[in-house]
Amino acid sequence: MARTNKRTRKSVIDSIPMNGHCAEIGVFRGHFSALILRERTPQKLYLIDPWINFEDPLYEKTWYHKDSEFDMNAIHDKVCNRFKSETQTGQVEILRGTAQDVGHHIPDGSLDFVYVDGDHSYGGVSFDLGLAFRKAKDTAIIAIDDYYVGGWWNDGVVRATSEFLGRHADRLMILECIESQIIIQKRPAMAMAA
Ligand SMILES: C[S@@+](CC[C@H](N)C(=O)[O-])C[C@H]1O[C@@H](n2cnc3c(N)ncnc32)[C@H](O)[C@@H]1O
Repeated sequence: MARTNKRTRKSVIDSIPMNGHCAEIGVFRGHFSALILRERTPQKLYLIDPWINFEDPLYEKTWYHKDSEFDMNAIHDKVCNRFKSETQTGQVEILRGTAQDVGHHIPDGSLDFVYVDGDHSYGGVSFDLGLAFRKAKDTAIIAIDDYYVGGWWNDGVVRATSEFLGRHADRLMILECIESQIIIQKRPAMAMAA
């Protein structure tokens, strides 16, 4: 999130199909979620975040570590309140937990858009991209935030994304790579020639 500005966020927003099924992995206060709702009016928006203050030393440099100034319980409550009416209609579904824990609530092959902005460690991004690929429709957009070497995650986001692109080279196309955002489209599998 650190280096993202309005222009790069606009590219991501513009890439999201209108009125589709979307998921955001890593929500925090829900600012980007609100933008998705306002600009792309999704039929369904899954918001995935554990909203916990992590004790694991791997996360000690994140701003949601155990001694951080942010009370993640309180932030979760505010997000629930912020999207109360959308939750009541079923447009928004708040899934509190890591993507590993709650991803199974989303049907496979159902999403038009996934924003990956949760656990930025190499292992975290690798998992989230695998999940995004499974949950995405064949023409879906997968966008990743903080696509640069730096921050507490060092090369985690870039390395996991490169491996993901290589693993599914026949099914993924980079649409745009703008500052800290990379926007990728999933493609249908090509029928094998007889
Ligand atoms: C950079 S913030 C998200 C910002 C939000 N996407 C925005 O643009 O406004 C990262 C969030 O990821 C969450 N997070 C950490 N590990 C996660 C995981 N394994 N799965 C989902 N979310 C995770 C944190 O709790 C934190 O709220």
